[in-house]
Amino acid sequence: MATNPAGGPAIFVIFGAGGDLAWRKLIPALYHLFLDKWLPEKFLILGQGHRHMSEAEFRQHLRQGVDKFSRRGKTADEKWDLYASHISFITSELDDSQSYSQLAKMLAARDKEWNVRANRVFYLAVPPRLIGTVTRELAKARLNQDRQRTRIVVEKPFGQDLASARELNRVLTADFAESQIFRIDHYLGKETVQNILAFRFANTLFEPVWNRRYIDHVQITVAEEVGVENRGHYYDGTGALRDMMQNHLCQLLCLIAMEPPLSFNADEVRNKKVDVLRAIRPIPPEEVHHFAVRGQYGGGWIEGQQVPAYRNEVSVAPDSATETFAAMKLFVDNWRWQDVPFYLRTGKRLQARISEISIQFKPVPHQSFPATAVQDWRPNRLIIAIQPEEGILLRFEAKYPGPTMRLSPVIMQFYYREAFRTRLPEAYETLLLDLVWGDATLFMRADQAEAAWTVVTPVMEAWEAARPMEFPNYQAGTWGPEAADDMLARDGHHWVMPTFLQCQEEIPVCRVTMAPS
Ligand code: BG6
Repeated sequence: MATNPAGGPAIFVIFGAGGDLAWRKLIPALYHLFLDKWLPEKFLILGQGHRHMSEAEFRQHLRQGVDKFSRRGKTADEKWDLYASHISFITSELDDSQSYSQLAKMLAARDKEWNVRANRVFYLAVPPRLIGTVTRELAKARLNQDRQRTRIVVEKPFGQDLASARELNRVLTADFAESQIFRIDHYLGKETVQNILAFRFANTLFEPVWNRRYIDHVQITVAEEVGVENRGHYYDGTGALRDMMQNHLCQLLCLIAMEPPLSFNADEVRNKKVDVLRAIRPIPPEEVHHFAVRGQYGGGWIEGQQVPAYRNEVSVAPDSATETFAAMKLFVDNWRWQDVPFYLRTGKRLQARISEISIQFKPVPHQSFPATAVQDWRPNRLIIAIQPEEGILLRFEAKYPGPTMRLSPVIMQFYYREAFRTRLPEAYETLLLDLVWGDATLFMRADQAEAAWTVVTPVMEAWEAARPMEFPNYQAGTWGPEAADDMLARDGHHWVMPTFLQCQEEIPVCRVTMAPS
């Protein structure tokens, strides 16, 4: 049989393919990859579900999902039919050993037909408690054997705490090698998130100032306008700390704080990220209230619509103590970052859907300009906008035109959509393609997932031990509880107004477009 290069023929086996993840994210993302000709010519998507469906019904169901969630709008018959011809469905129970033997035979038959051993991606779109069942059964059917070409994918939440994450790692590594395990954090697939690496390590300009000497503090905001939508059963009892802080925000922090990797080899990058998590100063249990703030939304108004309080959402306990907002102050104890605060916040039902990172530089060491010139003076700030706008903004000082010396802040902006005039891929597109290629750079390694749990554990434990009496403590449509403002105010800081709103401050802007080669 011919050898299969990294991007050669591929088979995706999606366990739990009848569920929401496949419908909303995986199948639309694979469809885009197919349209953009990124998928290998020979590929198969094999959906597994326990509800009986004919192949035609399954394909029709998936098409509805693509029509609804594709960034390209509705599917065209001809293209869809071609794509759908690569999709099959099997009905089985996840604990039925026989179905795995049949699966093994089907995959072997396909390899024979293609005359090549295809890359196999086993995607576990199943509840976490079923992960062990699937991995065990795959191993029993010897479907874990080809370490080079077999990958297994697990979604978040990766455990509920450090102990359960360790247990999950134990279960996974009992049957698969670490190099075969791909733990997804979809934030790492976002274009702007990856661009942090390009920005930091492909330019000489920023690295020399990327440290405690020049940077005053860093803020990471991941704000959502939506509430828990129809996910109350999952979210209640999970909360913002586990749902967002332990994974997405910790990943962003790693990319901002990591040392330059020697190469973009997956382990090299991941080593550097783990170093950051390990360097985070543990929060003493008795001081959690100084370093972390939790909140839960009450009713309010968002874009002219009245929205209910969290406790009135579907599948949420009416006296729920689950936090829908979390903020933390962290320090990274190493030479580069000693004593530079990193403020992280995330929440649902906030004023706007905005994810961005703000790097606040220190004031100039000596102000040479007269007091009359510096009335509007502000320190440099770099904003990495992740969503909904994707770009980078730099605020600096300029002379205001006129006969007198007066300084005024200006903003230099780079927006992806303007500079490159191309559509950005969805995070899942990037990650699914990496699965075909076997590139683990953007996936979490076992030690990284555990280290991130270690970071949030003191806060989680303190919050679990003391029921919040003040919930709900922020109104939907605001920026969260006042206590989060107070946490920064104690350090003489305030949360940065997100870019969109900031641009309404009438600071002159300068656009950056793609430079001629
Ligand atoms: C998921 C969380 O991981 O990320 C959700 O479980 C959250 O609660 C979502 O809404 C946010 O992702 P994005 O890409 O919309 O910022």
